[in-house]
Amino acid sequence: MTDNRKPKIILTGDRPTGRLHIGHYVGSLRNRVALQNSGEYDRIFIMIADAQALTDNADNPEKVRQNIIEVALDYISCGLDPEKSTLFIQSQVSELTELDFFYQNLVTVQRLQRNPTVKAEIQMRGFSESTAETDTKAGLPVGFFCYPISQAADITAFNATTVPAGEDQKPMIEQTREIVRKFNSTYGETLVEPEILLPDNSACLRLPGTDGKAKMSKSLGNCIYLSDSEDEIRAKVKGMYTDPTHLQVSDPGHVENNPVFTYLDAFCRDEHFEKFGGCFQGRKASFEFHNLDEVKAQYRAGGLGDVMIKNFLFEVINDTLKPIRERRRELEKNIPYVYDVLRKGSEEARAVAAGTLAAVKRSMRINYFDAGVLEELIKEQTEKYK
Ligand code: TRP
Repeated sequence: MTDNRKPKIILTGDRPTGRLHIGHYVGSLRNRVALQNSGEYDRIFIMIADAQALTDNADNPEKVRQNIIEVALDYISCGLDPEKSTLFIQSQVSELTELDFFYQNLVTVQRLQRNPTVKAEIQMRGFSESTAETDTKAGLPVGFFCYPISQAADITAFNATTVPAGEDQKPMIEQTREIVRKFNSTYGETLVEPEILLPDNSACLRLPGTDGKAKMSKSLGNCIYLSDSEDEIRAKVKGMYTDPTHLQVSDPGHVENNPVFTYLDAFCRDEHFEKFGGCFQGRKASFEFHNLDEVKAQYRAGGLGDVMIKNFLFEVINDTLKPIRERRRELEKNIPYVYDVLRKGSEEARAVAAGTLAAVKRSMRINYFDAGVLEELIKEQTEKYK
C-alpha cells in the first residue's frame, strides 16, 4: 500500500421523530448526497438515531418505531445510495452504549449544562421550570441531558473524520472533540477527532418555518415535508409569511428576514429563471429576471407582488422535490427492500463499532480476557502475592 493517508469517514444521522422536511434537506441531506457521490470518502455511515429519539420520548416508542421507516424512505429517495453508504439503526448497535458508559466518566455535569443546543431544547420542552422528580415527561430525563455524550460514542465508534450536519449540531461535535482529546491523553492515542461540515450557503444553516418562525418544526406545523404532494406544497407556499410591511404591490419590500427569500436563497439556481420565468409575466406587470439578485432589487424597489414570487418559489421547490417524491412513491411499494437495507447496514455498522470498542477497552486495559492478556494478568497478580 502506497496510500498512507488517514481514511476519510463520514458519520451523521437524524432522530426519527417525524418525516424529514426541506430544512433537513438544505441543511444536511443535499450535502450528504453530494459528498457520497464525490467519491472522496472511504466510508459513509448514516444513522437513524432511534435511541437518541427515545431520550425524550420514553413514553412513546411507537412514534419512534413508525418514523424509522419514514426517515429511511426519505434518505433513499433523496439519493443516499445503500450501495455507497451504510444506513443503520442506532439501537441495533449496542456497542455504542458501552462506549457511552466509558465516556460519561470523562465529562462533567457542569460541562453538559453549558451545551447551548441542549439548553435550548430543555427550554423548548419546558424541562427547565419543572421540579418533577419522577415524571420524565415533565422533568428532565437524565438520558436526554447526557445525549451529547452518546453522540460522541456514535461519531467515534466509526472513526468518523467528518460530520455533515446543521449548525445546531456544532456543540455536539465540540463535546465529541473534547472527549476524544481527553480519552487519548488519558489512555493513549485511540480515537479520531471529527470535524463538522456545515452547508456553505448561509440560508441553509437554519431554514425558518413557513410562518417566519426561526425554526422549522413539526410541533409548530410550519414545515414543508419531502413527502408532501404538489398540492400540499402549493398551499403551504401560498400561505407563507412574507414582509408584513409590503401591503401594496407598489410598496417597497424587505428581503431580509423574509422567509420567501430565504427559501429562494436556499433553493433557487439561475436555470430556474429559464424554466419558470413565466411566473413573472402577469397581466398588470411583467418582469424579465435572470437571477435572484434582480428579483431582490425589484422587490426592494416596489412593484413586485408576493403572489408572483410565491408562484415562482413554488415552482422552484417543486422542481427540486418532484424527483424525490417520485422515488419515494416507488420505494413505498418495496418496504421489504428498505428493511433489508437497514438490517444489513446495522450488521455492518455493528462490526465496525465492535472494532472500536475493542480498541477502547485495550487502551483502558479492561480487556482482561483477550488472548495473551489473561496470561500476563495472572503472572502479574501471582507475583504480587508471592
Ligand atoms: N442529534 C442529531 C439530531 O437531532 C442526531 C444524531 C445522533 C447525530 N447522533 C449523531 C447527528 C451523530 C450527527 C452525528 O438529528
